[in-house]
Amino acid sequence: MKVAAPKAILAGERRVALIPETCTKLKKAGLELLIERGAGAESGYADAAYEAVGATIVDDARLYAEADVIAFPNAPTYEQIMKFRRGVIVMAVINPLSNHDLVRQLATAGVTSMAMDLMPRITRAQKMDVLSSMSTVSGYKAVLMAAAALPKMFPLLMTAAGTITPARVLILGAGVAGLQAIATAKRLGAVVEAFDVRPVVKEQVESLGAKFVEVPVEAKDAQDAGGYAKEMSEDYKKKQMELVAKHAAASDVVISTALIPGRKAPILITAETVRNMHPGSIVIDLASEAGGNCELTKHGETVIDNGVQVMGPANLPSSIPVNASQMFSRNVGAFLLDLTKEGVITLNPEDECVTGTMVTKDGQVVHARVKETMGA
Ligand code: NAI
Repeated sequence: MKVAAPKAILAGERRVALIPETCTKLKKAGLELLIERGAGAESGYADAAYEAVGATIVDDARLYAEADVIAFPNAPTYEQIMKFRRGVIVMAVINPLSNHDLVRQLATAGVTSMAMDLMPRITRAQKMDVLSSMSTVSGYKAVLMAAAALPKMFPLLMTAAGTITPARVLILGAGVAGLQAIATAKRLGAVVEAFDVRPVVKEQVESLGAKFVEVPVEAKDAQDAGGYAKEMSEDYKKKQMELVAKHAAASDVVISTALIPGRKAPILITAETVRNMHPGSIVIDLASEAGGNCELTKHGETVIDNGVQVMGPANLPSSIPVNASQMFSRNVGAFLLDLTKEGVITLNPEDECVTGTMVTKDGQVVHARVKETMGA
């Protein structure tokens, strides 16, 4: 069977879904590889690097005509969906719990779409978890953006010109992106505080050298069985906003990463909180695609209010395409290897990773949770 990686055509996308290292492994498992000409260029992989491991470089017409599986580090565009053969397996980041238009297009195209972003968070699937991979990259890059934009330095410096006090960084949401942001900000020498609804992350935050700020709550009320945060009560939200306002006012940088799967991101930073921050401070809202954690956030833009820059960066993983492609490719490669026996890819309906990610098949939406959110 043939597995393919197209060249990105989505604006701002620089990643590739398959790197040569993964092609080698898939080839050993009996699969053929089709890579669109130039697909890996922005991630540091020339066409020759793919050919050296036995992949075939093709144009897009041949890729869409022959591929049995097509992998995307993002969502396929409408233009790409129009080229899909019925029955082809598409592995992509679909965001199907809210991107219903895309789900409908994939169903109409008759493809078997697998949402890599719905991979169940079970031990066996950790190596296939693209959300964790991309959150790692985003958390790191957000701190670098903040450090570059802040009109002061991060570390404490004792100089002949006197003491330079360290920057204060507040991280909201200590999941994968938040923990990586804490670690990166600490490495740069900032004083770091972090807040999360899930009390279980306190130990992880403290082990990275940050202070955990919390509104007391029972763990069972804050997270579901999958480890994800739940929607909180109105009383909790009010207390939380007050606490965030107080700590944000004393911070130079706020990086927010709070998400609740399938819902709009919770608002943690009001416009008033931003107005109480001192001029020159930075808010980086990594939840901007899901509506943002800050009332002022505009996805893909920087808003300046009272001298505070509120940034809602789009597709941060793509700004570090070398490592983001490596991680994505290893994740998608691990999934494919799990599904392949003697060169044949089988989607076993008993496999939790298959049922957890399969969104459309044979013209129908087949994922129970996606169907529920679509009101079907
Ligand atoms: P996420 O991206 O869905 O959310 C980011 C963070 O925001 C989470 O820590 C969440 O608790 C927090 N959050 C949500 N609402 C909030 C609010 N109102 N105020 C403050 N914080 C809020 O989460 P992510 O990073 O994808 O992972 C969540 C957890 O899932 C991890 O910490 C881990 O326990 C678990 N996980 C398990 C994996 C596995 O077993 N394969 C892999 C990765 C994560």
